[in-house]
Amino acid sequence: MKTAIIYASKTNTAKNCAEMLAEELKGKTKTALFALPATIPLGSYASYVIGAPVRAGRISGKMKRFLNANKAILLQKPLYIYLCCVSVDDFDKYIKDNIPAELADKAVACMRFGAEFNKDTAKGLQKMMLNAMTKSYKKENRPLPEIDRIKIKEMSSMICG
Ligand SMILES: Cc1cc2nc3c(=O)[nH]c(=O)nc-3n(C[C@H](O)[C@H](O)[C@H](O)COP(=O)(O)O)c2cc1C
Repeated sequence: MKTAIIYASKTNTAKNCAEMLAEELKGKTKTALFALPATIPLGSYASYVIGAPVRAGRISGKMKRFLNANKAILLQKPLYIYLCCVSVDDFDKYIKDNIPAELADKAVACMRFGAEFNKDTAKGLQKMMLNAMTKSYKKENRPLPEIDRIKIKEMSSMICG
């Protein structure tokens, strides 16, 4: 039993989540992590996890292209999807707007794994925006977003259950 964890990540939150999930699954199932773009022998895996961050309501073009190009094969095995995003309220809309409906309907779980403002790994415009977002959160005394480790544990139990 092997699980492919396939993610796209700009400032490492989705990558960190993929690594945390792999850690949770250690000793229970073998995992392989793939950062898009990548050539993935999808047929060799018993289940798939797809992870993507949301920016301006959208997942990245490379993840969208991957999902569309591999829809048929992804539908053949248990599929788990996570998004990294700040918004709790918009999560369902992000799934609806970004994940092909057949995949979202067939998925065992679609989960929000939380978010981070990783200024140190960002560059250029992303860094400027993250600096501005962090400043505004601090000004309003709002706690900075974090990865939801409970959801990661939950997905791990579903994969191994
Ligand atoms: C420019 C920018 C736009 C963002 N837009 C959204 C958004 O529309 N909705 C949301 O919930 N979170 C939004 N976020 C928060 C990201 O989803 C969050 O920072 C996430 O952890 C990034 O994942 P990554 O590090 O894997 O790229 C945005 C972040 C940035 C920097």
